[in-house]
Amino acid sequence: MYKPDTKGTKMQPPHPDIAEVVLTPGQIEEIVQALGARITQDYEDTQPLLVCILKGASPFMSDLMRSIALDIDIDFMSVSSYGNATTTSGTVKILKDLDTPIKDRDVIIVEDIVDSGLTLARLTAELAKREPRSIEIATFLLKDVQAPRKVDIKPRYAGFTIDNRFVVGFGLDYAEKYRNLPYVGVLKREVYENNK
Ligand code: IMP
Ligand code: MG
Repeated sequence: MYKPDTKGTKMQPPHPDIAEVVLTPGQIEEIVQALGARITQDYEDTQPLLVCILKGASPFMSDLMRSIALDIDIDFMSVSSYGNATTTSGTVKILKDLDTPIKDRDVIIVEDIVDSGLTLARLTAELAKREPRSIEIATFLLKDVQAPRKVDIKPRYAGFTIDNRFVVGFGLDYAEKYRNLPYVGVLKREVYENNK
């Protein structure tokens, strides 16, 4: 577990559908600050382009970019995976593309969570065709999957590794709900069982 929140005043009573809070607002802040500091060091000689993957990564993007002490550019993209759900042979459908050309740019893809890694593997392959100088991934959460991932995705920046449970909040949703919770929590079982 991450160390206890010392800024407890920021914590609201959890939503009634939440069984357990995994990361408090204070812990989230510390995690994002640490990632921002690393990016600031690693990109000091360049002006990276941060690409937020909508919608889940929007709170992370908003906090992360303000913790980077460099000139940066930002852009937004919305994608959905289709094709075979369990292999990389499928592709990503681009629902909203970048406004910015990325040729010769240092791109950082900003994502909420990497689970199977399939979405990001496909998206990275797609963006690589546009000949950026570099592409790295910054994910707020990394799921600790038991089996090795089918795809070889190793985010350079990963905020926190969580065990293999379904979490919501800080951008993460269940059926588009709970994105606005200021903490990350595990949903009560009855919430998704009632919706089956
Ligand atoms: P992947 O292609 O399996 O890595 O899927 C990643 C996407 O699945 C994320 O961008 C999320 O939208 C969604 N996802 C995976 N795990 C969770 C979770 O625990 N809570 C909410 N969304 C999740
Ligand atoms: Mg998502």
